[in-house]
Parts: sequence; C-alpha cells; structure tokens
Amino acid sequence: MKKLCLLGLVATLASHPVWAETKPAALKDKDAFVSDLLKQMTLDEKIGQLRLISIGPEMPRELIRKEIAAGRIGGTFNSITRPENRPMQDAAMRSRLKIPMFFAYDVIHGHRTIFPISLALASSWDMDAIGRSGRIAAQEAAADSLDITFAPMVDISRDPRWGRTSEGFGEDTYLVSRIAEVMVKAFQGTSPANADSLMASVKHFALYGAVEGGRDYNVVDMSPVKMYQDYLPPYHAAIKAGSGGVMVALNSINGVPATANTWLMNDLLRKDWGFKGLTVSDHGAIFELIKHGVAKDGREAAKLAIKAGIDMSMNDSLYGKELPGLLKSGEIEQSDIDNAVREVLGAKYDMGLFKDPYLRIGKAEDDPVDTYADSRLHRAEARDIARRSLVLLKNHNDTLPLKKSATIALVGPLAKAPIDMMGSWAAAGRPAQSVTLQDGLNAVIGEKGKVIYARGANITNDKAVVDYLNFLNFDAPEVVDDKRSPQAMIDEAVQAAKQADVIVAAVGESRGMSHESSSRTDLNIPQSQRDLIKALKATGKPLVLVLMNGRPLSILEENQQADAILETWFAGTEGGNAIADVLFGDYNPSGKLPITFPRSVGQIPTYYNHLTIGRPFTPGKPGNYTSQYFDDTTGPLFPFGYGLSYTTFSLSDMALSSTTLNKTGKLDASVTVKNTGKVDGETVVQLYIQDVAGSMIRPIKELKNFQKVMLKAGEERTLHFTITEDDLKFYNTQLKYAAEPGEFNVQIGLDSQDVQQQSFELL
Ligand code: BGC
Repeated sequence: MKKLCLLGLVATLASHPVWAETKPAALKDKDAFVSDLLKQMTLDEKIGQLRLISIGPEMPRELIRKEIAAGRIGGTFNSITRPENRPMQDAAMRSRLKIPMFFAYDVIHGHRTIFPISLALASSWDMDAIGRSGRIAAQEAAADSLDITFAPMVDISRDPRWGRTSEGFGEDTYLVSRIAEVMVKAFQGTSPANADSLMASVKHFALYGAVEGGRDYNVVDMSPVKMYQDYLPPYHAAIKAGSGGVMVALNSINGVPATANTWLMNDLLRKDWGFKGLTVSDHGAIFELIKHGVAKDGREAAKLAIKAGIDMSMNDSLYGKELPGLLKSGEIEQSDIDNAVREVLGAKYDMGLFKDPYLRIGKAEDDPVDTYADSRLHRAEARDIARRSLVLLKNHNDTLPLKKSATIALVGPLAKAPIDMMGSWAAAGRPAQSVTLQDGLNAVIGEKGKVIYARGANITNDKAVVDYLNFLNFDAPEVVDDKRSPQAMIDEAVQAAKQADVIVAAVGESRGMSHESSSRTDLNIPQSQRDLIKALKATGKPLVLVLMNGRPLSILEENQQADAILETWFAGTEGGNAIADVLFGDYNPSGKLPITFPRSVGQIPTYYNHLTIGRPFTPGKPGNYTSQYFDDTTGPLFPFGYGLSYTTFSLSDMALSSTTLNKTGKLDASVTVKNTGKVDGETVVQLYIQDVAGSMIRPIKELKNFQKVMLKAGEERTLHFTITEDDLKFYNTQLKYAAEPGEFNVQIGLDSQDVQQQSFELL
C-alpha cells in the first residue's frame, strides 16, 4: 500500500514542475518552506498572491492566463470545472516561481448534487446527515478541481426579514456551533490537503446576521456581552474545528467595518482565538470602506484593510493599485504585506497544492466525459438527507399521510419549480436535474390514484417584485410569470380541487426571495398565493400546504385554513421525492424548527432565548404593564425546536441525579421517551438550562444539549444528559467566561416551549 502511494507521488512529481521537485525536503516544514519562498518573491509577486478574482463567462481567458503567468493573481472563484481551471494552473506553472493558484467557489449546501438549504439542514438536528451532505459536497467539488469553499455560513440570524437567513443554520448559538464544527470537518475531511477535501472558510466574520432591521449589508451595533455570548461562538467553533479560512463580513460592527476592524481581525481572531489561516475579504469590501465613510479614498481603504489583517482581496483592485505606494511612503510596513502573503502561501500549502498543483485538477484524460452527467450526482443521499430536514407543522385529523390511491389536486406556483427546489446559492446544481414536487408525487402515486395539476397562482402579482427577482436573469427569468389572469388560474385550481380527494398546495417564496440582497418588510406568503389558498379552502376539501421558503413566514391565517402544513424549505435536487416520501408516509417526518416562526412581522425579534425582564408577560394573566404587544397574542406561532411526527411521543418525569453540582462534578438528567403511537419514528429530545439569578441578567433558557432518537412504535428508551460546570458558563460584564454558584433550572422537552423543569444548585 505504502509503495503504491510513493509511486503515485513520484509519478506526479515527474510530470509537473512543482516545488516538491526542486525542494522536496523543504516541503516537510511548512513555516520554513513558506519563509523561504517569501524571500524569493518580488513585491509584485507578493501583491499578486493577495488578489482573488471572480471568473465570469464574459472574461477574456487569455488575458487572465497572462496575468497568472506574470504572477499577478493568487486564486479565482466561480471557475468550476477541470477543463476551465487546468489552463489557469498551467499558466501559474509558467510563472517565475510556479506558485500554484487555488480555485474557490460558494459550495454552501452541495455542489452538483444540491442538498437542502442550510436552514433546512439545521432542521434535521441530525449531525450525521448534515456531515454527510458536507462531505459529499466536498468530494463533488474537489472532483471538479475546486480547492476551497466559502462556507460554512454560520451567522446567527434572529431577524427573518434578512434574506440570508436561508443560508445559515438558524437562531441558536449552541445548535449553530455544533453544525459549524460538523461542516468544517465534513468539508476538510481528515485534512484539507486530501484530494477529496475542500478547505473551509467560515463566514461572514462577524455578526452579519444581526444587520439592523434585517436590511442586508447594514450596520451591526451590539453589546460585547451579546457578541461573545450569542453571536461569536459559531465562528469560534468552526475555527476550533480547523477551518483553514475566514471570510470577513460586509457589515460594520459598532461603528467599524469588519474589513477595517483591527479589534475583530487581530485582537480577537488572531490573538485571542489563535487563528493561523487565511482571511479573505468579501466581494468588493475593501473598496466599500470608502462608502462606509471610514476611508477617504482607495489608498486609505487598502491601508486600513491590510493593517486590519485582510489577507486576500476579493474582486477588488485596490491592493494591486495602492500597496506599492503605501509601502514606499512608509504608511504600511513590509511585514504587513508579508504577513498576508504568508497566510495565502500557508493556505495553499495546507490545501496540498505545493505537493501537487494538479491535486484536484487531475489529468485531462481522466476528466469526466460529461461534467453534468447524472451519474455524478448523489441522489440517494440527497433524498435521505432532504426528508430528514422537513418539518411537519400541523396535521389536523391525520390528514397526512396521503393515500397512494387518492386523487390529489396539486396546485401552487412551487409545485413545478425546479429552480426554486434548489434554493439560493445552489452552486453547480442544474435545475433540469432537480426533482419537482409534481415529479415526486407522480413517481409514487399508485395505479388507482391520480395527480391533477393546476398552477393556481403566480409567485406574486407584483410586477416590480418579479422584475427585482429576475434582475440579472433576463435570458431565463427565474420567476415565471404566467400571463393568465389571477382569477383564471384560481378557477382552474378550484376545478382541479373539486375533482380531488385532497389538495396539496405548494406555496411560499421563490428562491430569490430568500437570498443575498433579498430583505423583506413582510413575512406573509404573497397575496396572489393567499388568494389561491382562500379559494381552495372554500372548496371544503382537505388542504395540505407544502411550504417552500428560506425563512420563517408569518402564516397565522394559513395555519387556520390548512388541515396540514409541511415546511419543506428548499429541499434540493431530490426535494420532490423527499417531500413525496413524507406526504405518503414512506418516511415519518422528524425535523424540528431551528428558528422561531413569528405570528407577524411586527413581533420580530422572536428568538426563544431572550433575556429575562422585570415585567414579563404571563400567559393567561392580564397583560397590563407587562412586556408584550396588546394587539396580538404573545408568543410565537411555532416555537424553536418544534416539529410533529406521524406518531406521538411521551416523556416521563425527568430525574436529576442530585440537587447539587460541584464545580468539578457531573450531574445526570435523565428522561424516558416513549413512542406512544402506531408507527416508528424519530424525535429530538432537547435540554435547556436557565441560570436563575446571576451577576447579570441571563436568558430565560438556553439549549445546551439534545439527542435525536429513533423509536419503534411502542418502544421506549431512557436518555441521559450530562451537565457540568461548562454548561453553566457565560460571559459576564467583564467578559470573563465563568459559571456562578447558585440555582439553575433544567428543562427538557420536545420543543423549546413545552418543557418540564427541575432545579439544582451549583456549589
Ligand atoms: C457574498 C459571499 C460570497 C461572495 C462570493 C458575496 O456577495 O456575500 O457570501 O461568498 O459573494 O460569491
């Protein structure tokens, strides 16, 4: 085995002019290798390494290759096939120092096979499934010559008006941190230097999810305690898991843009957290320092960014233009540039590119005959992972599962929407390869059953919104606009409903509505679809809503109208099959919400773990002079952690092993969970802790652990949760991370609201 590997290495070395050929010994010691290379570089070559460019279809390839061969580009993104990237790497091998390029891409929730959007993956609460999605994404992307992904995106989002909520893993610090770790390990495998691994670059550092009012790119103003306690841990978790890169956020933080923020980039990231990898600006962010109003011109912007520790500049020419002059005038030091270059070279070293620049590009004769071939997809895995991410929100009178012999009226603008099924940031996914809900139902419906399709409504009747969503997509508009009148479409759908036993309505958002730059003031399903739902309800036929959306929606009215609601987010390539599996009961839904569903947009923020207050509202008691809105019911429509199943589960009383805990001790909280229904199923048992009285106010509860368990009908199992002092620690007003002696409540439940509680004391 060993011999074979060695032979492989020799073959690689012989065929390429790589560093290993000339200095194989040097490659053993990363720091020495990088320092040695740095010494040989001219200033131009150094600055070239800091340049990361986007490759658009319109760009002159020959010119790019010339630039690469001249040592003026360090890496690209958006060029995503081996035949595209090979000539660029060849050009790098013609450059004076033969420093390899790296090739990056936004592989967020799949590469060619598209998995459910991140918010959906989080809904599975299934770390194994989430990890599998990341591993497959890395394998597919690496097989297409990619070296690094701009992911995972772990911005805590507590304001669903923000369109990028879809891209993250929800509102909860603990859950997102767990997933951050899983995703980094999945992308990087045992090492980012493996041929089937991608380097991860966690983003957007930091706090991007807290932009004011959910308006994309806006400011973030946040107390240090809140940052440390709630928003920073997921990035830290990704870094502790070994993320090789960090992408810096576009927003400002307490008055200083992240891209110019020396506290964030130096003091916190490098010094406190000990991050030793590559930092990359977001798209055009260095130039935007002028727009932010912290740099008077490009020169100052470049200076602020390099001084703050932004290693690579994404699609921005200011480093190239300004760094030489800044150095000459003494405004920056050689070490500012060298430190950045060192990280770029270090990252390339860690990606295995100095050993073999063609590690992921391979040989031309091994290129896939058809890059887009269906055989390159991982459909079975995508279907399995997608069905784990669906959340059953309502199931009145056991409307679901459907009978395969039923006549189903399938309506709604999202029933036959292959692009939307993939969600935003769908990497190299192809709409033609995604399974729509119509495809999925048709594949399962039995001999006696029938699916009658009618579109019923457009996504929206608001032309300005359609135009906005189709911006940049003029050739093949994403949002299809059926030219029939809204009433004609509704009439057709009602006719279909009248002939059917049950209505399945696929409604919600087009994928572009939950995307970058897609903030909303309103979380309703667009009016065109609400009119459709109302008309369908009036038929008296059982109504199942299949929601597709990238953020929580306010569906108060629809919750009253519908008999059953399945939240499917954007479920990916195999979405239609996965949804059909759940609708027909071939898979029992087990997802739980990773983010709260508000009753209305006016309730935002609605995250479950808010701080305690002096005048809390108590359900069932008069609300006067308590913290609430008097014109609506207090509390969310669906709480964090909520999700139903086709079976039912009961929890026994919780048992605590002791009512006291020593600082070095352990406490066991146990509960027996029983499947009390007629079918096998999975549920997520969640453990929350509340610090009853601290030196500062603390959240009403915080998720600290959970277990997802599969139980056969009638089966029961006792679950144990270990609680230690670590679970009780928090950042106090001095930003000291410590637990304080005193009383704590432990809560266990199947969602964040419906819990049982016991107390113990930390001694
Ligand atoms: C986004 C990043 C993304 C980058 C490259 C930016 O607009 O904010 O998340 O990685 O584009 O596609």
